[in-house]
Amino acid sequence: MLPIHRLKHNHKYTRIICIAWVVGFSSPITYAEEVAPVAQRLAKKYGCLSCHSETKKIIGPAFRDIAEKYRQIPTAQEYLTFRVKNGGSGVWGVVAMPANKNISDADLEKITRWVLNH
Ligand code: HEC
Repeated sequence: MLPIHRLKHNHKYTRIICIAWVVGFSSPITYAEEVAPVAQRLAKKYGCLSCHSETKKIIGPAFRDIAEKYRQIPTAQEYLTFRVKNGGSGVWGVVAMPANKNISDADLEKITRWVLNH
């Protein structure tokens, strides 16, 4: 058992716990609970998930494999935005992705960020 009666009166401890919570937990919770489900819904809405899955290759590469390939590349998000908009082939194989010109930049930003977070 934790000595709760002692922790209660130890403000230094409380402050450290609060800082750890803010730094350690708040951003992943925000990402996982807010950004990811929205992006996933958008990917479904725009038909991305008929060719892509998060973990397995379907017609297009798995989002996990895409994230892995571009993990070290700082301009990956801009590059993938361009690729998704314009489509084409040659990076993963001979099968082409159709162009996706009907997606707003804001939606595309959410989707590519989500893809890269796999
Ligand atoms: C008809 C099937 C199809 C659809 C629909 C599709 N893709 Fe693709 N996607 C592909 C194929 C095939 C590739 C591989 C292209 C290549 O080898 O260059 C690909 C590649 C990608 C890549 C990696 C590009 C690169 O240069 O590495 C991303 C990111 C991606 N797709 C995201 C999306 C998103 C987001 C959507 C929805 C807006 C989408 N795709 C819709 C088939 C599809």
